[in-house]
Amino acid sequence: MPNSIFGIDLGTGNIKIFNNTDSTVMSEKNMVAIMNKTQLFAYGDAAFEMFEKAPGNIKISYPLSYGVIAHIKNMELVLKHFINDLTKNKNNGADYFISVPTDVTEVEKRAFYDLIKDANIKAKGIWIVEKAIADGLGMNIDVKTSQGVMIVDIGFETTEISILSLGGIVLSKLIKVGGRNFDDVIKNVIRREYNLVIGEKTAEKVKISLSELVDKNMDAVVYGRDIVTGLPVERKIPTDLVDQSLNENVDTIIDNIKVILERTPPELAADIYRHGIFLTGGSAHTKNLDMRIAAELNLKINLAEDSMNSVVNGLARIIKDDNFRSVAYRIEGMSK
Ligand SMILES: Nc1ncnc2c1ncn2[C@@H]1O[C@H](COP(=O)(O)OP(=O)(O)OP(=O)(O)O)[C@@H](O)[C@H]1O
Ligand SMILES: [Mg+2]
Repeated sequence: MPNSIFGIDLGTGNIKIFNNTDSTVMSEKNMVAIMNKTQLFAYGDAAFEMFEKAPGNIKISYPLSYGVIAHIKNMELVLKHFINDLTKNKNNGADYFISVPTDVTEVEKRAFYDLIKDANIKAKGIWIVEKAIADGLGMNIDVKTSQGVMIVDIGFETTEISILSLGGIVLSKLIKVGGRNFDDVIKNVIRREYNLVIGEKTAEKVKISLSELVDKNMDAVVYGRDIVTGLPVERKIPTDLVDQSLNENVDTIIDNIKVILERTPPELAADIYRHGIFLTGGSAHTKNLDMRIAAELNLKINLAEDSMNSVVNGLARIIKDDNFRSVAYRIEGMSK
């Protein structure tokens, strides 16, 4: 039996865990349902199932907010249960590799370490990996030798824009824009144009099916509540309207990429021009997003295929291949 090692990408929307004992990746919603303020009722995808449907005494929430841990106790609960599930309640101690955003405070970074230490998951060793480095490895970039690599990870509540070179991070910016904002604007435009209130889940479904609907020349069919009559109704929404509504958030992402490019040393900028931008994160596949960024910046876009899992796939490479271990670090003075 090999020593248990887990690679954990705690996303604002999804938690992904690589388990080296069987080389699998688990991915579930990073959500918790708490009943009567204290009792764990459900976690992960099961909690998400109840989201927007649960009675008042069951509170469903995301333990992370904008990429950092917002509710430590809930995050500990969720993590402990997932690790127990993965080890079938026979965890005899394990090593953990956890990814963290770069552009956050030291205290916020340290919270990821403390989480692993305090979640009752028998941590033997804890290693930190900057998220963008893991992203690069997950996209099969040899981050240790490559120079001037731009990674844009568009997730659920955040977009992280980073420049990597020779195994380190030269620049990084975390902004509060992600797939959740896309869902929000879709909700808002449907409310405004059709007097129809829809849920977050419905908006997300429309967003994800956009490419398919456009290909088939079909409208999006949504169910919701009519504001005027108060009754549940079905409406057809043209895909153009949905697509247009995403522009503003995409512009914010593009403006921030420009800011980073302006600060990039010229030699690295030349490398970025040659390689293009590496686009990843679950939201990277949003309809027309890559084309809009490419057109606006006049740069080639390399779109990650398994974009939702690029961070956790990178952690898996670090765990499996000793050559990459040097990109992971322990927090000074805190190693166990
Ligand atoms: N095919 C798709 N098209 C568009 N968006 C998608 C698609 N598949 C997933 N998404 C979106 O990806 C987002 C989740 O991505 P991801 O798992 O990378 O986020 P996260 O890591 O949890 O969040 P963050 O990195 O911001 O903390 C959701 O907003 C989801 O709607
Ligand atoms: Mg993420």
